[in-house]
Amino acid sequence: MRILVIGSGGREHALCWNLAQSEKCDKLFALPGNPGISEVAECVDGVSVEDIDEIVAKAKSLEINLVVVGPEVPLTLGLVDALEGAGIKAFGPKKNAAVLEGSKAFSKELMKKYNIPTAKYEVFTDAELAKEYVKKEGAPIVIKADGLAAGKGVIVAKELSEALNAIDSMMKDGAFGKAGASVVIEEFMEGEEASLLAFTDGETIVPMIPSQDHKRVFDNDEGPNTGGMGTYAPAPVMTMERIKEAEEKILKPTIAAMKKEGRTYKGCLYAGLMVTEDGLKVVEFNARFGDPETQVVLPLLDGDLAEIMLSCVDENLKNVKVEWKKGAAVCVVMASKGYPGAYEKGKEIFGLAEAKNKGHLIFHAGTKKVENKIVTNGGRVLNVTDTGADIREARNKAYEGVSLIKFKGAFTRSDIAHRALERK
Ligand code: AMP
Ligand code: GLY
Repeated sequence: MRILVIGSGGREHALCWNLAQSEKCDKLFALPGNPGISEVAECVDGVSVEDIDEIVAKAKSLEINLVVVGPEVPLTLGLVDALEGAGIKAFGPKKNAAVLEGSKAFSKELMKKYNIPTAKYEVFTDAELAKEYVKKEGAPIVIKADGLAAGKGVIVAKELSEALNAIDSMMKDGAFGKAGASVVIEEFMEGEEASLLAFTDGETIVPMIPSQDHKRVFDNDEGPNTGGMGTYAPAPVMTMERIKEAEEKILKPTIAAMKKEGRTYKGCLYAGLMVTEDGLKVVEFNARFGDPETQVVLPLLDGDLAEIMLSCVDENLKNVKVEWKKGAAVCVVMASKGYPGAYEKGKEIFGLAEAKNKGHLIFHAGTKKVENKIVTNGGRVLNVTDTGADIREARNKAYEGVSLIKFKGAFTRSDIAHRALERK
């Protein structure tokens, strides 16, 4: 097969790294890709991941057999529909199913209708009514912009004043543009979070190995939310019993509900879960692989990713073997000073070759090649990943990898995987 991966981050690098090893993959392309991806795939420049028509035209001219869509925005814009319309297979949900991530109001209503456990909520399009509700419910409370906001449209308000300010900034000041015109206000859930991704062909679901992200920017979960500062897998909080519970009470009912609603969901379903005293509850659904969850999940996959993806598209996932390796994986994000706020770009990165030669998996998240040098080009720059016999070994190796790489303004969290280690 000739495979094209859409996207340019660490998640897409991990996807390409894995797909490049597939026996089913004859030739791999990435659009637009990045300097790390260019080591395993041919990068297609000059087309935006949001330009649906151009992507379809490129996929046709490159005679692609399977397109794998990384980010959510092209999914919510209907890229899979357009590719299928042109006779090209694509891994990912269609537009009417990607709405599960694209609209929090939609996903909350679906969960309510089908009794899928999640936090109590109300949706508001009027700021004054929203504020009245918040005053009635009290803090802590969670305010979420309805639409896509790159993981930043969620305020977990500890105080009432913070909640009221969040409503004003989303609904009156337009801090998240159209995404904040309507807001979801949720009950605060107490517990430990975990990410459970699953392959699905619209009928069968196969959960991946559970992982845990670290969303706050600083150690001890302090500072603002980010896209994710590091991950590990497997997450011990997700015991076999809890994985079963997630399968039976969340994943299967959600896929069945989507089908019943005429929105058959195929691809990767990402369930962000909270392990509460009353059992598992959904924090959010994403319509794509997690970033940086993918970076720790795929190195533990014992199976052919291209074959699994194709079986999701062709609706015969139940006939394909999906297994997981023993051991663990840890990913530490190296970010640019200032992230998730403003940060500088263009800083030269040193030590990449040495780290790679020593066996560390270095997924590029925000890098660029300028005159044969690799420089920083994003807030999250590199995802240093290692596997090991257990979380401790994988984590020690990943931080060794980090110590070999230098760029101006680089920072990491120093406590990735602490929850797993504190358990033992
Ligand atoms: P989301 O984008 O919906 O995943 O929210 C981002 C982060 O905010 C989550 O990973 C949680 O840490 C936190 N969060 C979201 N909703 C809730 C909730 N209802 N209760 C507690 N924390 C939440
Ligand atoms: N790591 C969080 C996400 O992919 O949404």
